[in-house]
Amino acid sequence: MNRPLIRIRFISACIGLLIGCRTSTIDAESIVLKSPGGANGVTFLLKDGVPYYQVRHGDAAVIKPSRLGIRLRNEADLTANFAIEKVKRLTFDETWTQPWGETAHIRNHYNELWVSLRQLDSLGRRLNLYFRAYDDGVAFRYELPKQEGLPRVEIMDEATEFALAGDHSAWWIPAYRPERYEYLYSNTPLSRLDTVHTPLTMETVDGLFLSIHEAALTDYAGMALANKGANTLECDLAPWSDGVKVRGGTPLVSPWRTIQIAEIPGELITSYLVLNLNEPNALDDVSWIEPGKYVGIWWGMHIGKYTWESGEKHGATTANTQRYIDFAAENGFDGVLVEGWNTGWDGDWIANGDLFSFTESYPDYDLEGLATYAAGKDVRLIGHNETSTGIRNYERQLEDAFALYHRMGINTVKSGYVGHGRNIRRLDPATGELLGLEWHHGQYMVRHYRKVVEVAARHQIMLDVHEPIKATGIRRTWPNMMTREGARGQEWNAWGHDGGNTPEYTTILPFTRLLAGPFDFTPGIFDLYFEEAGRPDNRISTTLAKQLALYVVLYSPLHMAADLPENYEGQPAFQFIRDVPTDWEETRVPGAVIGEYVTIVRKDRHGPNWYLGSITNDQGRTLTVNLDFLDEGIEYVAEIYADAGDSDWRTNPLAMEISRLPVNRATRLELRLAPGGGQAIRFRPVAVD
Ligand code: NOJ
Repeated sequence: MNRPLIRIRFISACIGLLIGCRTSTIDAESIVLKSPGGANGVTFLLKDGVPYYQVRHGDAAVIKPSRLGIRLRNEADLTANFAIEKVKRLTFDETWTQPWGETAHIRNHYNELWVSLRQLDSLGRRLNLYFRAYDDGVAFRYELPKQEGLPRVEIMDEATEFALAGDHSAWWIPAYRPERYEYLYSNTPLSRLDTVHTPLTMETVDGLFLSIHEAALTDYAGMALANKGANTLECDLAPWSDGVKVRGGTPLVSPWRTIQIAEIPGELITSYLVLNLNEPNALDDVSWIEPGKYVGIWWGMHIGKYTWESGEKHGATTANTQRYIDFAAENGFDGVLVEGWNTGWDGDWIANGDLFSFTESYPDYDLEGLATYAAGKDVRLIGHNETSTGIRNYERQLEDAFALYHRMGINTVKSGYVGHGRNIRRLDPATGELLGLEWHHGQYMVRHYRKVVEVAARHQIMLDVHEPIKATGIRRTWPNMMTREGARGQEWNAWGHDGGNTPEYTTILPFTRLLAGPFDFTPGIFDLYFEEAGRPDNRISTTLAKQLALYVVLYSPLHMAADLPENYEGQPAFQFIRDVPTDWEETRVPGAVIGEYVTIVRKDRHGPNWYLGSITNDQGRTLTVNLDFLDEGIEYVAEIYADAGDSDWRTNPLAMEISRLPVNRATRLELRLAPGGGQAIRFRPVAVD
C-alpha cells in the first residue's frame, strides 16, 4: 500500500497551489476563499487532522475557527485524522430570472472551494466540503462520496460549529417545542440562547447583521442550533424516533449551512443567498404557476362564527362558498379557500388525522358545482388538505386527490399538519403498523413534504403549506412551492392564550422567518376587535393602516384578504388590498431597525406602480423616506393610507387618513406611524392623456 505517499504528494500539491493563503496566527494548513468583491472570506483549516472553518467580513471576525465533521453510526467518526487530498476552485457568475418572486432577476456570483479529505487510517474514509463565498455571506456543505464499504450511512450528528465572535444580540425562537415554529421571538444575548430554530439573526457587537440558516434541505434532517457556551452554537439535527439523525446512501450531500452577512439590516432582506444555493427550476412548464390573492372561508372558523365540522354552523356550505366566489369575482381576487369542505372533521380532528378524506365532500358542499361556478367567474377554488399529521392516510390519497383537483380546475392546495411535539405517527405504508413518533422537522417529514411538492407539480398544483418544514429556498427548484406558514400567523390573534401577536412581532419577522422564504401570514383583518367571538382577551394588536402595510412588508406570492367579506363592505381602505400585487420586479428596504420599524418598497412585476409598506412596534414614530427608488422622469400620485394623528393600536386603531399627493423621485416623504401602526402607499404614474 503506498497510500500515505500519495497523500503526502497531494498535500504538497495543495500547499503549492495555495502559497500565500496561510494565516500567521493559526498553525495549520489553511486555504482562504474570498468573495468576488472581497467583502467576505471563509478559510478552511486543517489542524492536527481536524477540519475547521472561519469567516471574516473585511477585518472583522464573524465566525472564529469552528469544527466541521460528521459522526456516523457503527463507523469511525468523520471528524478527525484527516489529510487534504485534493482542492478545486471555481468562480461562478450568472443572473437568473425567477418565474415569480420578490425580485425578478437575481445575480448568483460566488467563488467556490472544494476540499476533499481522506482519513489517515487503513479505511481511508473520504469526506468532501464545499465552501462558497458571496459578497452577501458564505455557505458550506458536506459531501459523503461513494466509497468502498460505505454504501449506506446513518448520521448520528454533525460536528458543525458556529463560534461567533462575540456575545451578540440574537432574535430567536425555541426548537423542539409543541408549537413547531410558532413562537414569539426573544431578543437576548447569544449566551442566553436555548436550542433554537433557524434563521437565527444577530446584530454583532461591532454592528454587523448575521443570519444563520440552511439552504436546499433535501432528504436530510432539519437543523436547529444548540448553545454550547462561549458564544458557540452547534448544528443540532432533528432525530428520527430511534435517535439516528439522517439515513441515506452515498453519495450524500448535506444542505448548505448559510451565514448571511450584512452591514445594515435591510441588506439581509435583499440578499438572495439562500435561493442562489438551490438548484435551478426543475419544471419545464411554469405557465400554470400564478401568484395572486385569495379570500376564504377561514377566519370565520378561527373566531368561532363557523365550524370546520358538519352541523348548524358549518362554514363550507354551497351557498356560503358561492357568496365568497361572488365577492372574489367582484373584487378581483384569484382564489377562494374553503376549509372544512371534506369529510373527517367531525369529532377530535387533531387526534383523528387518519379519518380525513381528500376527495369526498360533506353533503352540503357541492364540490363539482362550485368548481364550475367559480370557473364561470374566473375564480379558482383553493383546495384545503388538513392532514393532522396523518401522513400515511394523506400519501395514500395524494395522487387521486390532486388528479381530481386538477380536473376541476383547482390549481392551489393549502395543506396543514396540525400536531404537537414529537408526535407524528410513522406508520408502515403497507401494514399500518406504528414504527415511530417523529418531529415535523426531522428527515421523515422532510421527505414527506418534498414528496407532496413533487406530486403537486405533476398535477399542476401550487402549494401553500401550513405547519410546514421551514423554507430553505427550494421554491427555486420547485416553483409550485409558493408559500407556507412556519411562524405565528394572524390566526394567533383570534385565539392565542397570550392574547396574540405583539406589535413588535411583525417588525422582527422580515429579518428572521421571512429570510427563509415567503410567509402566508394572512393579513387584512379590518374588524380588529371581532367582538362577536366573545373573546375579550383577543384582538388584533395593530392599527388598520398596519394591516394594509403588511401586504408589502411580509412577502408572499399568495396573500389572503383574511377577514369576512362583510367586514370589507363600504371600507375605503379595502381599495389598497384590491390594488396591491403579489409578484414583484424589485424590492428595496429604505430603512429598518430590527424589532422597532421597517419600511419596504416593491415594484409591481407587471406594471409601473411602486408600493410602500412601513410598520412600527409599540412606539409611534415619524420616518422620512427618500423616494429616489421611483423611476426617473415620471411624475406619480402617491395614494396614502396612513394612521390618523390620534391613532393608537390600543385606543384608536381604526382611525385612518387616506390622501393623495403628487410626488417624484426627488420627494422626501414623512411617514407618521402611530403606536402599533403603519402606512401603506401605492405610487402610480400620473395618467398622461
Ligand atoms: C392551522 C392553520 O394554520 C390554519 O390556517 C387552518 O385553518 C387550521 N390549521 C385548520 O386546518
